[in-house]
Amino acid sequence: IGTIGVMTSGGDSPGMNAAIRAVARACSYYNVKCIGFYRGYQGMIENDYCEMNARSVRNIISSGGTILKSARSDDFRTAEGRKKAADNLKEIGVDAMILIGGDGTFRGGKLFSEEHGISVIGVPGTIDNDIAGTNFTIGYDTALNTVVEAIDKIRDTASSHDRLFFVEVMGRDAGFIALNSGVGAGAEEILIPEEDLGLDRLLESLKRSKRSGKTSSIVVVSEGDKIGKNVYELADYVTENLPNYDVRVTVLGHMQRGGTPTCFDRTLASRLCVRAVELLLDGEKNVMVGLINNKITFTNFEEGLKEDHGINKELLRISDILSV
Ligand code: F6P
Repeated sequence: IGTIGVMTSGGDSPGMNAAIRAVARACSYYNVKCIGFYRGYQGMIENDYCEMNARSVRNIISSGGTILKSARSDDFRTAEGRKKAADNLKEIGVDAMILIGGDGTFRGGKLFSEEHGISVIGVPGTIDNDIAGTNFTIGYDTALNTVVEAIDKIRDTASSHDRLFFVEVMGRDAGFIALNSGVGAGAEEILIPEEDLGLDRLLESLKRSKRSGKTSSIVVVSEGDKIGKNVYELADYVTENLPNYDVRVTVLGHMQRGGTPTCFDRTLASRLCVRAVELLLDGEKNVMVGLINNKITFTNFEEGLKEDHGINKELLRISDILSV
């Protein structure tokens, strides 16, 4: 392998820059040329790229976002778009691609390599943590810390005004962010798509907590939760049924995707990306790298993208006990 391409795709996540840095530096270490494509698959289609060396990634380990920018490319969903990308790669002489992104990125990459025989390695980068082939995705830890910090602040005002807050967090169809930040921030209830607790239970729990002397509460709601149609309707429902509660809603939104990556995410990105380069040099292809039981592993895309991504529901029980 003489040239490795790298790109970031899908929703950005803190630590993607540390990942790009690790790819460029590992390529330099192993004397392989490195090309960075802008805006994920879209840059591959539009031939929008830059040559990268060890110095072009200086001082980015600590920054959020991605210097290569990111996009969700509609053109790449078409066979024509993928062919254009493959033709471009062949022309530039890119032998293999490292794809940093989430499940959509990996699905696209799998199809691309099957159709055009270009080797790809997936590196999991998303705040959602919804990828079976790794215990942790790059950006998830930072997002959790961002959410916990935000909820801590909401708690201050909730407590001053004796209010009940519904805090909606990201995660798409997965409840990882809600579940872990909920426990970390000491939420009264945590609503995740993987477990339907039902509205009655929620009302009961809120009444019980009031009886036990609590004057304010935080309920963390995953954006993918289906208990209410959305968090505002859920809050309305609770207001109608528990009229003596002063209810507010905060949707944390895209601030969860920004910020300085934690040490955990930087280290994870560094380990995964060095391994990704080494795997390509060893002739491996069409797998994703991941961290499983603190070991860097690789898994084929099918396994890595399994529906059941193993959320730890035991945390719901812990939360229940601790919100007594
Ligand atoms: O996948 C990351 C994520 O932030 C999800 O948690 C969220 O559902 C989605 O992306 C939002 O996408 P967009 O930035 O396109 O609005």
